[in-house]
Amino acid sequence: MSVKLGVIGGGVMGTAIVSRLIDRGTYQNTDILISEPSLQQQQALHHQYGVQVTGDNNLAATAQVLLLAIKPQIFDRVIADLTRLERPTQLIISILAGVSIAQLERAFPDRAVIRAMPNTPATVGMGIAAISTGTSVQPQQLDLATQIFQAVGEVVTVTESLMDAVTGLSGSGPAYIAIAIEALADGGVAAGLPRPIADRLALQTVLGTAALLKETNLHPAILKDRVTSPGGTTIAGIAKLEQAGFRSAIIQAVIAAAQRSRELGQ
Ligand SMILES: NC(=O)c1ccc[n+]([C@@H]2O[C@H](COP(=O)([O-])OP(=O)(O)OC[C@H]3O[C@@H](n4cnc5c(N)ncnc54)[C@H](OP(=O)(O)O)[C@@H]3O)[C@@H](O)[C@H]2O)c1
Repeated sequence: MSVKLGVIGGGVMGTAIVSRLIDRGTYQNTDILISEPSLQQQQALHHQYGVQVTGDNNLAATAQVLLLAIKPQIFDRVIADLTRLERPTQLIISILAGVSIAQLERAFPDRAVIRAMPNTPATVGMGIAAISTGTSVQPQQLDLATQIFQAVGEVVTVTESLMDAVTGLSGSGPAYIAIAIEALADGGVAAGLPRPIADRLALQTVLGTAALLKETNLHPAILKDRVTSPGGTTIAGIAKLEQAGFRSAIIQAVIAAAQRSRELGQ
């Protein structure tokens, strides 16, 4: 059976991408081969999605498009074991944090290489991925990679030098927002709400605000001004946020995470 998409690493992100590619009809399940060491996970993937599975990474690497979804720490070992890269037209797409296009091009000489940085909301189809192209990527290959990541959310294209900044913002951002949601709920509890109600209010407030901003295309500052009445409750809360350096804390968090990403990539 011909393999259009080979995936090395059927973990959280590999599975999220594959399941949605099948749902959207970008690929048929039979077009996909996932290589994964755990027999149990192989069986689960085959059972749940009907994809082909193997424990042999070399088989996945014969596909027209190869998606690398392993942990970055084992990249060198996995590449060293790939011996049957036969098809020069292959497109290699890597989601490995910190693995550069130069490393990928050294590992896959004469192949078109795309580096992508998705984020955790991809697992529910609400992610955003930044992608950077290697030196020999054709426009139709970029289109295909874009389609692949659109299956799990939105896609932006950036030069590779901006990948650390992407990591600091959208890569690490879900953790910042999770903390903000938790803190909102804690505030609600501190103000007297029962925990389950505070949790629901906090989560839906963040989700709803993001949806509202997206749907209306309003600048966040304009939305903030619209919900801030003179001498009212919201401006009293905002004054406290400013006093505590909320805005600055978020800016500094993105800068620190980008810097850490730069250090780890060296
Ligand atoms: N999760 C995210 O939100 C996110 C965001 C951005 C980028 N990424 C990147 O995505 C990549 C995968 O992350 P993940 O969260 O999906 O990790 P994960 O759930 O641990 O998935 C990695 C998979 O690779 C398998 N594996 C281990 N050794 C292998 C080998 N030699 N050959 C083939 N497969 C092997 C693992 O199997 P076993 O479990 O059996 O060892 C596991 O199923 C990472 O490089 C990460 O940087 C992830």
